[in-house]
Amino acid sequence: MSNKSFYITTPIYYPSAKLHIGHAYCTTIADSVARYHRLAGDDVFFLTGSDEHGQKIQEKAEAQGIKPIEYVDGIVAEFQKLWKMLNISNDDFLRTSQKRHERVVQEIFRRVYDKGDIYKGAYKGLYCTPCESFWTELQLDENGCCPDCGRPVKEVAEEAYFFKMSRYADRILKHIEDNPDFIQPVSRRNEMINFIKQGLDDLCISRTSFDWGIPVPIDEKHVIYVWFDALTNYLTPIGFLDDEEKFKKFWPADVHLVGKEIVRFHSIIWPCILMALDLPLPKQIYGHGWLVVDGSKMSKSLGNVVDPVELINKYGADAIRYFLLREINLGQDGNFSELALVQRINADLANDLGNLLHRTLNMVKKFQQGEVLAAQGRSEIDENLIADAMAAVKTFDEGMGDMKISSAIKGVWAFISRANKYIDETAPWALAKDPAKQQELANVMYNLVESLRIISVMIEPFMPTTAEKIWQQLNMPKAFADVRLDDIKAWGGTTAGMHIGEAQQLFPRIELEKDEAPDKKAGEKVKTGKQAKGEPGNIDSDEITIEDFARVKLQVVEILAAEPVPKADKLLKLKVNTGAEEREIVSGIAKHYECSELIGKRVILVMNLKPARIRGVVSHGMILAASKGDALEVVSVDMPVGSVVR
Ligand code: MSP
Repeated sequence: MSNKSFYITTPIYYPSAKLHIGHAYCTTIADSVARYHRLAGDDVFFLTGSDEHGQKIQEKAEAQGIKPIEYVDGIVAEFQKLWKMLNISNDDFLRTSQKRHERVVQEIFRRVYDKGDIYKGAYKGLYCTPCESFWTELQLDENGCCPDCGRPVKEVAEEAYFFKMSRYADRILKHIEDNPDFIQPVSRRNEMINFIKQGLDDLCISRTSFDWGIPVPIDEKHVIYVWFDALTNYLTPIGFLDDEEKFKKFWPADVHLVGKEIVRFHSIIWPCILMALDLPLPKQIYGHGWLVVDGSKMSKSLGNVVDPVELINKYGADAIRYFLLREINLGQDGNFSELALVQRINADLANDLGNLLHRTLNMVKKFQQGEVLAAQGRSEIDENLIADAMAAVKTFDEGMGDMKISSAIKGVWAFISRANKYIDETAPWALAKDPAKQQELANVMYNLVESLRIISVMIEPFMPTTAEKIWQQLNMPKAFADVRLDDIKAWGGTTAGMHIGEAQQLFPRIELEKDEAPDKKAGEKVKTGKQAKGEPGNIDSDEITIEDFARVKLQVVEILAAEPVPKADKLLKLKVNTGAEEREIVSGIAKHYECSELIGKRVILVMNLKPARIRGVVSHGMILAASKGDALEVVSVDMPVGSVVR
């Protein structure tokens, strides 16, 4: 039987500086998806690499008095070390300076040139060296600077080769419109459609002002401009020129995972190049959001650039991976804070997961001398647990298959809590004391070991080392590397009669410094003696920390539709666009607004409020409003949908 193939890529990173936690975020997402597909039995090819050419790198090397290749060799070795530390399971690492890539880029240039889609012209334009991007006057920001990084652009004029991208504008627009999944999330898709509708210029694809690049095969004075060289990286390692069978198997790619600011290059320029080559287009471009640190964009000047190597050394790779995958909804921007990381480690890893494993292993050891006895018969509580386990596997499978990583991970943790609750519900320590209840005890122990077996497989894409540690502590007979998703799709894979292994702590609790420790749980209200419902509280006792506040995710959304909720004269049902999706919200503002007044308003939504059913409608968030006495006004702003409020 031939397995389904799955090809996923990350962007290739610029070796202009060390990688930071934002880069680690992108690669970790891709790794978890690749690992999930391997678990599902797919034949996976996972590619990452480095984008080494261009003027900026040449200038950096010159500043250090070394050759560009010496400069990139050093820094790319650091990239590879980081990916190893983070347990990234890439199948290949492409460096654009490699000979195998030069061959591919030059061959592609030749093919497109022979087709008549490349011509020589004169380039006059505004160039941003750090971003390696050309801009037109109209595209610059309000300060006349690069719209991506805000730095000054410089005017350049030189002979250059151009790719006739304009020829493919209609075809790419049609492709995007006909294939709703081609660009995800949908907000990015809309941006791209608008961008193309403004007209596509031909693309400058060569430069003569520096020489650190792949020479144009028909004109050695020129080097190929970095984006043409970079995008084609996705073809090199899968046998484009040298292994037809491999190429057929993996091309077109299933997902190019990229940051939101380079979706344009991947969903417009890259497909146009592929069309010129008569190659099929990738199935999906997924634009993830950006990671900010304690609410601010990372920058050297702010001194808030987070080094993933330091974090891994301090907390371990799995904890970092877990935090990145769990905290941030793919497609949206997310916040990194070390305190929030520590709180997740303590609550979710040390407490929920660690305790479940520890309690289970200890009880099997204490009550059954380490042996997992056969289960016979099921109580209603057992049936519930088993149904929840199977539902968790389904949620995990569907979520990961659909790139909904944080919802998949949340589903797994909901089941971990469920299994902890099962211990409290069944109270095995009481069963152990009653000779008549030994079979019941055996059943509970079996069900807990089986739950942990299932959990360990589901967490493998997120925390590969921890997953294997759990498997080994359970002492499951099958080699962990051979385990597949099919092994957990049915209940009962644990073999009765097996002996569990030694219990070892997975995640030690991290003690917070006194002034860091939140003295109450976020959201927990402190009541003062005098305080009554609705009364403004004592300011001191109601103080929250910045981290408490950061847990509330506020974002600008647009109201698309509004209608009354039947038989509820205060409520309106709103449909809003969050930029990543459409949601339904129930809001108690019916007495203050006509439905039509609300359409098009951009309001602030509490994004991460637990969904609640209100009069039969599931409300997914809450919009903010100011009120005093009988007056009420929703808080509306004139900022783009998706803007974060903090
Ligand atoms: N070399 C190009 C990509 C070429 S792909 C054919 C490039 N390199 S980069 O090093 O500047 O960025 C690589 C990726 O890192 C981008 O997808 C970018 O969005 C991502 N990130 C950079 N900073 C980030 C955060 N703060 N958060 C999340 N991702 C971030 O662009």
